Amino acid sequence: MVQRFNGIMFEGSMVLPLRLYAFAPLRLFISFDVYFLFTCIMDTVVSGIRSTGNLHLGNYFGALKNFLKMQNENNCYFFIADYHALTTHPKPKDLHSNIKQVLAEYLACGIDPEVATVFIQSDVPEVSELYLLLNMNAYVGELERTTSFKEKIRKQPDNINAALLTYPVLMAADIIIHKANKVPVGKDQEQHLEMTRRFARRFNMMYEVNYFPEPDAYNFGQQLVKIPGLDGTGKMGKSEGNGVFLSDTPQEIKKKVMRAVTDTGPTAPGQEPTEPVKNLFTIMSVVSDQDTIKFFSDKYASCEIRYGDMKKQLAEDIVKFTEPIRLRINDILSDNKYLSKVVADGAEKARASASKTVREVREIIGYRPF
Ligand code: TRP
Repeated sequence: MVQRFNGIMFEGSMVLPLRLYAFAPLRLFISFDVYFLFTCIMDTVVSGIRSTGNLHLGNYFGALKNFLKMQNENNCYFFIADYHALTTHPKPKDLHSNIKQVLAEYLACGIDPEVATVFIQSDVPEVSELYLLLNMNAYVGELERTTSFKEKIRKQPDNINAALLTYPVLMAADIIIHKANKVPVGKDQEQHLEMTRRFARRFNMMYEVNYFPEPDAYNFGQQLVKIPGLDGTGKMGKSEGNGVFLSDTPQEIKKKVMRAVTDTGPTAPGQEPTEPVKNLFTIMSVVSDQDTIKFFSDKYASCEIRYGDMKKQLAEDIVKFTEPIRLRINDILSDNKYLSKVVADGAEKARASASKTVREVREIIGYRPF
């Protein structure tokens, strides 16, 4: 693939040997210009989470864990998709605290704003201009056929607003405005990413340029763990009432896990577990150690399992994992000075990259100064 950088055309094969990993921490020691040069030969990563509720285990193991793995080896942009959150009409009194909560949760999980660019989507208004421009060649037919749109029509028939239809266009703008190559997202976002690639390709073809790279969904070559909910079926969701949040207290977690749906127990040795029980094992597989998992799997296989014991252990292991994060969330939430610095620095860096793209896109489209 040919990459364009600073006006020079580079073959991918020339860039590859130059690629040294773990450049990101260098930002602390070198000037911005030199750092910018380094970032040109790193891959660019963009991802975001909507600020529609507290983050849960599904968000952590489906997305954030990948963010953490990627942040030191790539030029990362991690943001809070607060424009996207508006599609479900949050109350003005909740908007700011929702954003602040997710920001604190990002940081508490280990996203490092010294290394990655951490920002709020609405602090970068350039994205709304690119969204407008991309809308000119996104077609209503393809948008109407998007799975997430069809789902929303079913879920919120009283609020089928135009931004729901063009949700994938805004998401594409988020991604290509930083010319991302990799986008760590869960399986449910794959179709949106496919559309992003299509919009990027269409722009390039329409204007006969090789401007936007086509980004790939990224998950370290292995299947992402899809974390199920505690209600027996489906995935963990923010609004489904089946989730364990990173900010839940140990008491809340114990209560939720003890109430999780199970069944009447296996009746024959070696039986395949039912979905609700399989779900508990899946959650166990990410928070418990190997011995614990083996212990309960063996008990299940020999029909000796006591779900009460299993849930007690599971709750304990979840708490062991979430409690340090919860305490950090609370610390960070009470440090407004730190949060406002993170947000201001992030906005500045994201706007530098976004405004360069919008300037170039305007020129490609044909805008000229008088
Ligand atoms: N649509 C994503 C979700 O619901 C959030 C999102 C918005 C996003 N813009 C993005 C994810 C850009 C990755 C890249 O989870």
